[in-house]
Amino acid sequence: MTPERAAMALSEHGMKITVVGSGYVGLVAAACFADMGHEIISVDNDASKTAMLQRGDIPIHEQHLPELLARHRDRSIRFSSSLPDAVRGSDAIFIAVGTPQSGDGQADLSYVESVARELARAVNGYKLIVEKSTVPVFTHDWIRKVMLLNGASADSFQVASNPEFLREGTAVTDFLYPDRIVIGVDSPRAGNILREIYAPLTSGAYYSHANPVPAPDNACVPPPLIETSAKSAELIKHASNAFLALKISFVNAVANMCEFVGADVRQVCNGIGADTRIGPRFLNPGIGYGGSCFPKDLMAFRAVARECGYEFRLLDEVININEDQRHRFLRKVRKALWTLRGKRLAVLGLSFKGGTDDVRESPAIAVVEMLLKEGSEIRVYDPAAMDRAREVLLVSGVTYAQSAYDAAAEADALLILTDWAEFAALDLDRLHAALAYPIVIDGRNLYDPDIMAAHGFLYYSVGRPDVQPAMQRVIAAQS
Ligand code: UDX
Ligand code: UDX
Repeated sequence: MTPERAAMALSEHGMKITVVGSGYVGLVAAACFADMGHEIISVDNDASKTAMLQRGDIPIHEQHLPELLARHRDRSIRFSSSLPDAVRGSDAIFIAVGTPQSGDGQADLSYVESVARELARAVNGYKLIVEKSTVPVFTHDWIRKVMLLNGASADSFQVASNPEFLREGTAVTDFLYPDRIVIGVDSPRAGNILREIYAPLTSGAYYSHANPVPAPDNACVPPPLIETSAKSAELIKHASNAFLALKISFVNAVANMCEFVGADVRQVCNGIGADTRIGPRFLNPGIGYGGSCFPKDLMAFRAVARECGYEFRLLDEVININEDQRHRFLRKVRKALWTLRGKRLAVLGLSFKGGTDDVRESPAIAVVEMLLKEGSEIRVYDPAAMDRAREVLLVSGVTYAQSAYDAAAEADALLILTDWAEFAALDLDRLHAALAYPIVIDGRNLYDPDIMAAHGFLYYSVGRPDVQPAMQRVIAAQS
């Protein structure tokens, strides 16, 4: 298809969509739907966030998001804080508000409920309400009941589930080049609307238009669309996240075995991942998973299972292994440094993974807090997450550096806690010269132990033998 025909195909499919919630999920969905040729109103009840977006500022760090918003702002995407106005002019309303963890581990659905109440009062003709937020099974049914109780007539709306599988840091690319699109619908009408919304991707038209976001390696183009019932779609989302978390905890447990027997987890994972039934992705051991999804979704999935009368104990162990991983890392730091009180430690990374400024449930923050409790002084650098970290690290003992080398200056050791690409490409001679002692404790396995040895570092990582070149060489390299 020529770019011109593709552009025509996109505009033919153009639908009017409201996205409620302009967070990591909602804002990316809004920008990507606009790039797919739809007309979007992005609504958030945080007036300062909406004002910021209207001014052209972007509240989160996410690759490709600035370009897409610049391309579509005030043309096919508008920002508003009035849900009723937005709803009246829309065919479909996507709910992407937060579903945080409540005290007992269940998902707190109060934001979703309050949106449903508002929607009930605003619908003026048939609307498709689509859950995009990760929610427990049966939430679509609750949204329907709440809307009916609040005066919406049964024929004025339907509720569908369209779970989002994007990862922060690669969110835009994941949205536009998904492995699959899941639509959970309980009527042909709802199915037709969602198929129409995703037609630019499933027909391939988006990928031949003039300026698509570049495809990642191994993109599945066009992506398959899987149609299920709404409750199956809700379960697909929880089960996918739980399985991915399980894969990480599994590989962390294997890494621990490697440490006990002196094997190398890289070699073991190459061997495991080469089995196409297992696959090589999400087999990176480290200090455990974090973020706004895996920790809360595992708790919520477990809680929902319990409510249905099923004890999903496998999930308990996934969570336990993950928690244990950060304590094991602390033991590694002690093993490398003996005592921690008064030690000056350089820390690289605060976000829960590379490529994002999000520090929610970040294992890096948890490790920093534990080190501070032990009396260490921390000098930290993160390319994007330092402002957000300042809001949660409210204890003394932390200073913020301008660069990785600035953090390392005169430190007793360097700790790598987040897998930012730039932390894997440091100038090792410069790093060696900056540190007071050439000790690196790598919680993300970013370096090759042999290369670290060749540069004279004492190097500790996860699931791989420690590197301790003869002290003579270390001392010689220092002088
Ligand atoms: C959240 C959930 O954490 C995730 O599980 C789900 O899949 C999608 O929603 P995220 O986008 O990262 O993910 O949340 P967050 O960054 O907190 O954004 C939510 C936005 O919704 C915020 O901007 C908030 O102001 C807004 N909001 C919240 C509303 O507009 N209305 C509300 O009633 C509540
Ligand atoms: C996750 C899911 O991947 C995504 O499909 C869903 O929509 C939201 O939740 P996200 O939390 O943004 O996405 O990031 P992800 O790349 O999955 O990483 C989650 C955590 O697992 C991070 O802390 C990361 O460092 C960790 N991780 C990931 C590992 O420790 N090892 C791995 O091999 C992969």
